Amino acid sequence: MDPWRRLIPLSVATSSSSSSSSSSSSLILLLVFFSHSSSSPPTLPQPFDEAYSPLFGDTNVVRSDDGKSVRLLLDRYSGSGFISSNLYKYGFFSARIKLPSDYTAGIVVAFYTSNGDVFEKTHDELDIEFLGNIKGKKWRFQTNVYGNGSTSRGREERYTLWFDPTRAFHRYSILWTANNIIFYVDEVPIREIIRNDAMGGDYPAKPMSLYATIWDASDWATSGGRYKVNYKYAPFVAEFKDLVLQGCPVDPIDQYPSGQCYNNLALLEAQDFSSVTTQRRAAMRRFRQSYMYYSYCYDTVRYAIPPPECVIHPSEKERFKETGRLKFGGSHKRRSRRRGRIPMVVEEQPVM
Ligand SMILES: *[C@@H]1O[C@H](CO)[C@@H](O)[C@H](O)[C@H]1NC(C)=O
Repeated sequence: MDPWRRLIPLSVATSSSSSSSSSSSSLILLLVFFSHSSSSPPTLPQPFDEAYSPLFGDTNVVRSDDGKSVRLLLDRYSGSGFISSNLYKYGFFSARIKLPSDYTAGIVVAFYTSNGDVFEKTHDELDIEFLGNIKGKKWRFQTNVYGNGSTSRGREERYTLWFDPTRAFHRYSILWTANNIIFYVDEVPIREIIRNDAMGGDYPAKPMSLYATIWDASDWATSGGRYKVNYKYAPFVAEFKDLVLQGCPVDPIDQYPSGQCYNNLALLEAQDFSSVTTQRRAAMRRFRQSYMYYSYCYDTVRYAIPPPECVIHPSEKERFKETGRLKFGGSHKRRSRRRGRIPMVVEEQPVM
Protein backbone atom coordinates (compact mmCIF):
# COMPACT_ATOMS: atom_id res chain seq x y z
CA MET A 1 0.00 0.00 0.00
CA ASP A 2 1.16 3.51 -0.71
CA PRO A 3 2.41 4.88 2.60
CA TRP A 4 1.88 8.48 1.56
CA ARG A 5 -1.80 7.89 1.00
CA ARG A 6 -2.15 6.54 4.51
CA LEU A 7 -0.51 9.59 5.94
CA ILE A 8 -2.90 12.16 4.66
CA PRO A 9 -5.52 11.63 7.36
CA LEU A 10 -2.84 11.63 10.02
CA SER A 11 -1.61 15.09 9.22
CA VAL A 12 -5.18 16.31 9.38
CA ALA A 13 -5.63 14.58 12.71
CA THR A 14 -2.50 15.99 14.25
CA SER A 15 -2.69 19.51 12.95
CA SER A 16 -5.10 20.68 15.61
CA SER A 17 -4.22 18.24 18.37
CA SER A 18 -2.02 19.03 21.31
CA SER A 19 0.75 16.92 19.86
CA SER A 20 3.45 18.75 18.03
CA SER A 21 3.06 19.54 14.39
CA SER A 22 6.03 17.35 13.62
CA SER A 23 4.38 14.11 14.67
CA SER A 24 3.02 13.50 11.21
CA SER A 25 6.43 13.92 9.71
CA SER A 26 7.87 11.49 12.20
CA LEU A 27 5.33 8.96 11.06
CA ILE A 28 6.20 9.57 7.44
CA LEU A 29 9.78 8.89 8.34
CA LEU A 30 8.84 5.80 10.25
CA LEU A 31 6.88 4.39 7.39
CA VAL A 32 9.76 5.06 5.10
CA PHE A 33 12.00 3.40 7.62
CA PHE A 34 9.90 0.30 7.99
CA SER A 35 9.27 -0.14 4.33
CA HIS A 36 12.83 0.47 3.17
CA SER A 37 14.58 -0.33 6.43
CA SER A 38 18.21 0.58 6.24
CA SER A 39 18.01 2.93 3.28
CA SER A 40 15.99 5.76 4.83
CA PRO A 41 16.06 5.84 8.59
CA PRO A 42 13.89 8.44 10.24
CA THR A 43 15.47 11.60 11.54
CA LEU A 44 14.86 13.33 14.83
CA PRO A 45 11.28 14.57 14.63
CA GLN A 46 11.68 17.38 17.13
CA PRO A 47 14.70 19.28 18.40
CA PHE A 48 16.04 17.50 21.46
CA ASP A 49 15.55 20.49 23.74
CA GLU A 50 11.88 20.75 22.85
CA ALA A 51 10.90 17.13 23.21
CA TYR A 52 13.20 16.03 26.04
CA SER A 53 15.02 17.35 29.05
CA PRO A 54 17.86 16.06 31.20
CA LEU A 55 16.71 13.83 34.02
CA PHE A 56 19.91 13.59 36.06
CA GLY A 57 23.64 14.04 35.55
CA ASP A 58 22.95 17.12 33.41
CA THR A 59 26.59 17.76 32.57
CA ASN A 60 26.81 14.19 31.28
CA VAL A 61 23.93 14.72 28.84
CA VAL A 62 25.78 15.95 25.76
CA ARG A 63 23.81 17.12 22.73
CA SER A 64 25.32 17.23 19.29
CA ASP A 65 25.65 20.68 17.74
CA ASP A 66 22.86 19.97 15.28
CA GLY A 67 20.52 18.81 18.07
CA LYS A 68 19.94 15.50 16.33
CA SER A 69 21.73 13.17 18.67
CA VAL A 70 22.60 12.99 22.30
CA ARG A 71 25.28 11.19 24.25
CA LEU A 72 24.71 9.91 27.74
CA LEU A 73 27.89 9.57 29.78
CA LEU A 74 28.68 7.60 32.87
CA ASP A 75 31.80 8.59 34.73
CA ARG A 76 32.92 8.07 38.31
CA TYR A 77 30.83 11.04 39.45
CA SER A 78 27.52 10.36 37.79
CA GLY A 79 25.42 8.53 35.26
CA SER A 80 22.94 10.50 33.21
CA GLY A 81 19.54 10.38 31.62
CA PHE A 82 16.85 12.26 29.80
CA ILE A 83 13.06 12.23 29.87
CA SER A 84 10.43 13.23 27.34
CA SER A 85 8.69 16.52 28.03
CA ASN A 86 5.26 14.92 27.56
CA LEU A 87 3.53 11.89 28.94
CA TYR A 88 1.80 9.70 26.39
CA LYS A 89 -1.12 7.37 26.70
CA TYR A 90 -0.18 4.84 24.07
CA GLY A 91 2.43 5.45 21.48
CA PHE A 92 5.47 4.35 19.59
CA PHE A 93 8.82 5.14 21.24
CA SER A 94 11.95 4.52 19.25
CA ALA A 95 15.61 5.46 18.99
CA ARG A 96 18.75 4.41 17.24
CA ILE A 97 21.25 3.54 19.94
CA LYS A 98 24.95 2.74 19.99
CA LEU A 99 26.22 1.19 23.19
CA PRO A 100 29.57 1.76 24.87
CA SER A 101 32.21 -0.73 23.80
CA ASP A 102 35.05 -2.64 25.42
CA TYR A 103 34.78 -3.20 29.14
CA THR A 104 31.24 -2.29 30.23
CA ALA A 105 30.51 -4.69 33.05
CA GLY A 106 28.08 -3.34 35.61
CA ILE A 107 26.68 -0.70 33.29
CA VAL A 108 23.02 -0.49 32.45
CA VAL A 109 21.78 1.47 29.46
CA ALA A 110 18.01 1.70 29.61
CA PHE A 111 15.42 2.87 27.11
CA TYR A 112 12.01 2.71 28.68
CA THR A 113 8.64 4.24 29.38
CA SER A 114 7.46 4.80 32.92
CA ASN A 115 5.25 6.93 35.12
CA GLY A 116 7.02 6.12 38.37
CA ASP A 117 7.48 9.81 39.12
CA VAL A 118 3.74 10.48 38.90
CA PHE A 119 2.24 7.28 40.28
CA GLU A 120 4.64 6.06 42.92
CA LYS A 121 2.65 3.09 44.16
CA THR A 122 0.82 2.17 40.99
CA HIS A 123 3.33 2.88 38.29
CA ASP A 124 3.50 1.36 34.82
CA GLU A 125 6.69 0.63 32.92
CA LEU A 126 7.94 -0.88 29.67
CA ASP A 127 11.67 -1.59 29.57
CA ILE A 128 14.51 -2.31 27.24
CA GLU A 129 17.61 -2.62 29.42
CA PHE A 130 21.12 -3.44 28.27
CA LEU A 131 23.09 -5.17 30.96
CA GLY A 132 26.77 -4.52 30.31
CA ASN A 133 29.31 -7.03 29.14
CA ILE A 134 32.88 -8.04 29.62
CA LYS A 135 35.17 -7.72 26.69
CA GLY A 136 34.82 -10.49 24.16
CA LYS A 137 31.41 -11.55 25.46
CA LYS A 138 28.07 -10.68 24.02
CA TRP A 139 25.98 -7.84 25.34
CA ARG A 140 22.80 -9.09 26.94
CA PHE A 141 19.56 -7.24 27.35
CA GLN A 142 16.14 -7.66 28.83
CA THR A 143 12.61 -6.47 28.26
CA ASN A 144 10.12 -6.10 31.05
CA VAL A 145 6.57 -4.93 31.71
CA TYR A 146 4.91 -3.59 34.84
CA GLY A 147 1.36 -2.37 35.21
CA ASN A 148 -0.29 -0.50 38.08
CA GLY A 149 2.51 -1.20 40.53
CA SER A 150 2.87 -4.91 39.75
CA THR A 151 6.52 -4.79 40.84
CA SER A 152 6.23 -8.14 42.60
CA ARG A 153 5.39 -9.75 39.26
CA GLY A 154 8.39 -9.29 37.03
CA ARG A 155 7.82 -10.19 33.41
CA GLU A 156 11.43 -10.33 32.29
CA GLU A 157 12.76 -11.90 29.19
CA ARG A 158 16.48 -11.92 28.45
CA TYR A 159 18.30 -12.18 25.17
CA THR A 160 21.53 -11.77 23.28
CA LEU A 161 21.72 -10.07 19.87
CA TRP A 162 22.68 -11.16 16.38
CA PHE A 163 25.00 -8.16 15.98
CA ASP A 164 27.47 -6.20 18.06
CA PRO A 165 25.45 -3.25 19.43
CA THR A 166 28.62 -1.25 20.14
CA ARG A 167 29.78 -1.07 16.53
CA ALA A 168 26.84 0.64 14.88
CA PHE A 169 23.53 2.25 15.62
CA HIS A 170 20.53 -0.04 15.74
CA ARG A 171 16.93 0.90 16.23
CA TYR A 172 15.14 -0.20 19.40
CA SER A 173 11.43 0.47 19.69
CA ILE A 174 8.52 0.03 22.03
CA LEU A 175 4.99 0.03 20.65
CA TRP A 176 2.24 0.36 23.23
CA THR A 177 -1.42 0.42 22.26
CA ALA A 178 -4.64 -0.46 24.04
CA ASN A 179 -4.43 -3.89 22.41
CA ASN A 180 -0.82 -4.93 22.45
CA ILE A 181 2.80 -4.18 23.30
CA ILE A 182 5.57 -4.96 20.84
CA PHE A 183 9.31 -4.61 21.42
CA TYR A 184 11.37 -4.22 18.27
CA VAL A 185 15.07 -4.53 17.48
CA ASP A 186 15.48 -2.94 14.06
CA GLU A 187 12.49 -4.29 12.11
CA VAL A 188 12.28 -7.53 14.05
CA PRO A 189 9.51 -7.78 16.63
CA ILE A 190 11.19 -9.66 19.45
CA ARG A 191 8.30 -9.81 21.90
CA GLU A 192 4.59 -9.20 21.77
CA ILE A 193 2.16 -9.04 24.65
CA ILE A 194 -1.45 -9.13 23.61
CA ARG A 195 -3.75 -7.54 26.13
CA ASN A 196 -5.67 -10.12 28.03
CA ASP A 197 -8.53 -9.31 30.43
CA ALA A 198 -7.04 -11.63 33.01
CA MET A 199 -4.01 -9.32 33.24
CA GLY A 200 -6.23 -6.65 34.77
CA GLY A 201 -4.20 -3.69 35.95
CA ASP A 202 -0.95 -5.48 35.11
CA TYR A 203 -1.38 -4.21 31.56
CA PRO A 204 0.10 -0.68 31.51
CA ALA A 205 -2.74 1.78 31.02
CA LYS A 206 -1.72 5.15 32.46
CA PRO A 207 0.24 7.85 30.63
CA MET A 208 3.99 7.30 30.56
CA SER A 209 7.08 9.36 29.72
CA LEU A 210 9.98 8.09 27.66
CA TYR A 211 13.30 7.76 29.49
CA ALA A 212 16.84 6.95 28.46
CA THR A 213 19.52 6.43 31.10
CA ILE A 214 23.00 5.10 31.74
CA TRP A 215 23.98 4.19 35.27
CA ASP A 216 26.16 2.07 37.49
CA ALA A 217 24.41 -1.17 38.41
CA SER A 218 27.53 -2.96 39.57
CA ASP A 219 25.61 -4.88 42.18
CA TRP A 220 23.44 -6.81 39.72
CA ALA A 221 23.73 -6.09 36.04
CA THR A 222 26.49 -8.31 34.75
CA SER A 223 26.56 -11.93 35.81
CA GLY A 224 24.53 -11.15 38.89
CA GLY A 225 26.97 -8.50 40.08
CA ARG A 226 30.12 -10.52 39.73
CA TYR A 227 31.63 -7.97 37.34
CA LYS A 228 31.62 -4.34 38.49
CA VAL A 229 32.03 -1.06 36.66
CA ASN A 230 35.72 -0.32 36.16
CA TYR A 231 36.18 3.46 35.95
CA LYS A 232 39.59 3.05 34.44
CA TYR A 233 37.61 2.78 31.18
CA ALA A 234 35.36 5.81 31.83
CA PRO A 235 33.62 7.76 30.51
CA PHE A 236 31.19 5.20 29.16
CA VAL A 237 29.15 6.65 26.34
CA ALA A 238 25.77 5.57 24.99
CA GLU A 239 24.67 7.49 21.94
CA PHE A 240 21.05 8.08 20.89
CA LYS A 241 19.77 9.49 17.64
CA ASP A 242 16.75 9.57 15.36
CA LEU A 243 14.45 9.55 18.34
CA VAL A 244 10.80 9.05 17.49
CA LEU A 245 7.84 9.72 19.73
CA GLN A 246 4.56 9.02 18.02
CA GLY A 247 1.52 8.88 20.21
CA CYS A 248 -0.98 10.75 22.19
CA PRO A 249 0.33 13.29 24.67
CA VAL A 250 -2.03 13.54 27.63
CA ASP A 251 -2.33 15.19 30.96
CA PRO A 252 -1.16 12.70 33.59
CA ILE A 253 -3.93 13.54 36.02
CA ASP A 254 -7.13 13.60 34.01
CA GLN A 255 -5.62 11.09 31.56
CA TYR A 256 -8.18 11.87 28.89
CA PRO A 257 -6.74 12.42 25.48
CA SER A 258 -8.53 14.80 23.18
CA GLY A 259 -10.78 13.54 20.42
CA GLN A 260 -8.05 14.35 17.93
CA CYS A 261 -5.81 12.11 19.92
CA TYR A 262 -8.20 9.21 19.52
CA ASN A 263 -7.99 9.66 15.76
CA ASN A 264 -4.27 9.75 16.04
CA LEU A 265 -4.21 6.51 17.99
CA ALA A 266 -6.60 4.80 15.61
CA LEU A 267 -4.18 5.68 12.85
CA LEU A 268 -1.23 4.50 14.90
CA GLU A 269 -2.97 1.19 15.49
CA ALA A 270 -3.59 0.87 11.78
CA GLN A 271 0.11 1.17 10.98
CA ASP A 272 2.10 -1.69 9.67
CA PHE A 273 4.32 -1.90 12.76
CA SER A 274 1.38 -2.00 15.18
CA SER A 275 0.65 -5.63 14.55
CA VAL A 276 2.93 -8.55 13.96
CA THR A 277 2.45 -9.53 10.34
CA THR A 278 2.76 -13.16 9.32
CA GLN A 279 6.16 -12.54 7.83
CA ARG A 280 7.43 -10.73 10.89
CA ARG A 281 5.94 -13.38 13.15
CA ALA A 282 8.30 -15.88 11.58
CA ALA A 283 11.22 -13.51 12.27
CA MET A 284 10.03 -13.16 15.85
CA ARG A 285 9.95 -16.93 16.29
CA ARG A 286 13.44 -17.25 14.85
CA PHE A 287 14.77 -14.53 17.13
CA ARG A 288 13.23 -16.10 20.20
CA GLN A 289 14.48 -19.56 19.33
CA SER A 290 18.02 -18.33 18.77
CA TYR A 291 18.57 -15.45 21.19
CA MET A 292 16.21 -15.67 24.13
CA TYR A 293 17.84 -17.28 27.13
CA TYR A 294 15.36 -16.49 29.89
CA SER A 295 11.60 -16.14 29.99
CA TYR A 296 9.42 -15.67 33.05
CA CYS A 297 6.74 -17.63 31.22
CA TYR A 298 8.75 -20.84 31.63
CA ASP A 299 10.01 -20.07 35.13
CA THR A 300 7.72 -22.34 37.08
CA VAL A 301 9.87 -21.92 40.16
CA ARG A 302 8.66 -18.35 40.19
CA TYR A 303 5.24 -18.75 38.60
CA ALA A 304 3.71 -22.19 39.10
CA ILE A 305 0.98 -21.00 36.75
CA PRO A 306 2.32 -18.78 33.98
CA PRO A 307 0.85 -15.27 33.98
CA PRO A 308 -2.21 -15.01 31.74
CA GLU A 309 -0.56 -13.32 28.75
CA CYS A 310 1.99 -16.11 28.36
CA VAL A 311 1.78 -18.16 25.19
CA ILE A 312 3.44 -21.46 25.97
CA HIS A 313 5.18 -23.25 23.13
CA PRO A 314 5.77 -26.91 24.00
CA SER A 315 9.18 -27.02 22.31
CA GLU A 316 10.33 -23.91 24.18
CA LYS A 317 8.97 -25.27 27.41
CA GLU A 318 11.11 -28.33 26.89
CA ARG A 319 14.23 -26.24 26.28
CA PHE A 320 13.73 -23.89 29.19
CA LYS A 321 12.91 -26.60 31.72
CA GLU A 322 11.49 -25.30 34.97
CA THR A 323 13.77 -22.37 35.71
CA GLY A 324 12.84 -20.38 32.63
CA ARG A 325 16.45 -20.13 31.58
CA LEU A 326 18.76 -22.10 29.38
CA LYS A 327 21.56 -24.16 30.88
CA PHE A 328 21.90 -22.44 34.23
CA GLY A 329 19.86 -22.18 37.37
CA GLY A 330 20.18 -19.26 39.76
CA SER A 331 18.37 -17.26 42.32
CA HIS A 332 16.00 -14.39 41.81
CA LYS A 333 16.74 -11.00 43.18
CA ARG A 334 14.62 -8.05 43.96
CA ARG A 335 16.10 -4.65 43.55
CA SER A 336 15.47 -1.41 45.29
CA ARG A 337 14.25 1.78 43.78
CA ARG A 338 16.87 3.73 41.96
CA ARG A 339 16.79 6.88 39.93
CA GLY A 340 13.02 6.98 40.08
CA ARG A 341 12.57 3.56 38.65
CA ILE A 342 12.36 0.05 39.90
CA PRO A 343 14.52 -2.43 38.09
CA MET A 344 13.33 -5.87 39.06
CA VAL A 345 15.72 -8.36 37.70
CA VAL A 346 16.45 -11.98 37.55
CA GLU A 347 20.02 -12.69 38.42
CA GLU A 348 22.26 -12.90 35.41
CA GLN A 349 23.50 -16.31 34.47
CA PRO A 350 27.22 -16.99 34.82
CA VAL A 351 29.27 -15.88 31.86
CA MET A 352 30.08 -18.89 29.77
C1 LIG B 1 -4.50 -0.09 40.49
O1 LIG B 1 -4.11 -0.21 41.82
C2 LIG B 1 -4.90 0.54 42.74
C3 LIG B 1 -4.24 0.44 44.10
O2 LIG B 1 -3.90 -0.86 44.41
C4 LIG B 1 -6.34 0.02 42.70
O3 LIG B 1 -7.13 0.77 43.56
C5 LIG B 1 -6.86 0.12 41.27
O4 LIG B 1 -8.14 -0.45 41.18
C6 LIG B 1 -5.93 -0.60 40.31
N1 LIG B 1 -6.36 -0.36 38.95
C7 LIG B 1 -6.54 -1.33 38.08
C8 LIG B 1 -6.95 -0.93 36.71
O5 LIG B 1 -6.41 -2.51 38.37
